[in-house]
Amino acid sequence: MIYNFDEIIDRNNTDSLKYDFAEKRGMPEDLLPMWVADMDFRTPEPIIEALQSTVSHGIFGYSESREDYYRVLEKWFLTQFNWQIQSKWLVKTPGVVYAISQAIRAFTEEGDGVLIQEPVYYPFRQTIAMNKRKVVVNQLVYNYGRYEIDFEDFEASIQRESVKLFILCSPHNPVGRVWTKEELIRMGDICLEHGVIIIADEIHSDFTFENITHHVFADLKSEYLEQTITCTAPSKTFNLAGLQISNILIANQTYKKRFKEEMAKGGYSQLNIMGIVACRAAYHHGHGWLSQLRVYLKDNLKYVRSFVNTQLEGVRLVEPEGTYLLWLDFSTYLKKHGLSDQELNQLIVYEGKLWLDDGNMFGQGGHSFQRINMACPRALLVKGMEQLATALAIHTKAIKN
Ligand SMILES: Cc1ncc(COP(=O)(O)O)c(C=O)c1O
Repeated sequence: MIYNFDEIIDRNNTDSLKYDFAEKRGMPEDLLPMWVADMDFRTPEPIIEALQSTVSHGIFGYSESREDYYRVLEKWFLTQFNWQIQSKWLVKTPGVVYAISQAIRAFTEEGDGVLIQEPVYYPFRQTIAMNKRKVVVNQLVYNYGRYEIDFEDFEASIQRESVKLFILCSPHNPVGRVWTKEELIRMGDICLEHGVIIIADEIHSDFTFENITHHVFADLKSEYLEQTITCTAPSKTFNLAGLQISNILIANQTYKKRFKEEMAKGGYSQLNIMGIVACRAAYHHGHGWLSQLRVYLKDNLKYVRSFVNTQLEGVRLVEPEGTYLLWLDFSTYLKKHGLSDQELNQLIVYEGKLWLDDGNMFGQGGHSFQRINMACPRALLVKGMEQLATALAIHTKAIKN
């Protein structure tokens, strides 16, 4: 089947966080939303059919996954990443952020240090802080358009703050890095040496660009497998975020028990039937759709790259290796026009009629960046980029006048 990713589907009035809640979130109503990380594409047909079949059955009692669920998961990870999982490792949760929060509670005490690499997906910081743990930052180093890890600081921060837990974002949102084997091993060995448990958030692992390989962190060394909580989900890959299903893999059975106890404390046991049905169908039938989507996203990226280079003076695209989230560096533009981040936000919202994510939300190192979600039909992406260009040009003209 050939999928049409160019189709524009009206998402207004569908209870969509991206489209229906601008005013509630303090934004004008008429913005083109390119912020939250879901896609404007219809999910693959086999998933919709599986959901429809469940809906027409009409009984939505307590539900649990069976052997076939595990089997498709096993095949998916083997085919995608050459990773052999075991059924006893699996814990299903209603989302990755939920799982991260449970892991923080299960493996650390109040006041303990939890390490993150900002700029990074902002719920990491929030979840650590909300659980009264200490946010410890190993800031990523921005080197000529590419992000790298300061390994000396990584280790020093772990030692200085007696870090117990490290949340690895791999591939990394928002900077788009897909960490190399060498980088992962360097971080992993430091964690092992200091007894740090790793939460590997690999939710974006199905999105890597040509010639870039995602390495499952836990699979790099048997010692890592024993020390890691791997967070995966079909939600980014197949646009199922609203169904809240994640698969957490914990090989260390002592850790798994602690994790499950923490979930039980919160009163959570069985998942939503729709999530289970959708995940099984996605991993069973989704390969073809995903490979077409990856080609489409590659072309979206090509379009943005060319547009930024030719139309957005003073803006730089941080070349992504993975994810469908683009990280735009406005520092030259801001400097040239003497603008603050706040002024840039105003420009984007009120002149560009665009809703992006301000880089400052992602913590240290996010200053003067914006994150833009390119997982949408090309026509919407073109509209968004042109609106951005118009906004920036209006300001340039105003300064010149
Ligand atoms: C790195 C990362 N982790 C987790 C999530 C969200 O996961 P969930 O909706 O399953 O909580 C996102 C969503 O953008 C993400 O980028």
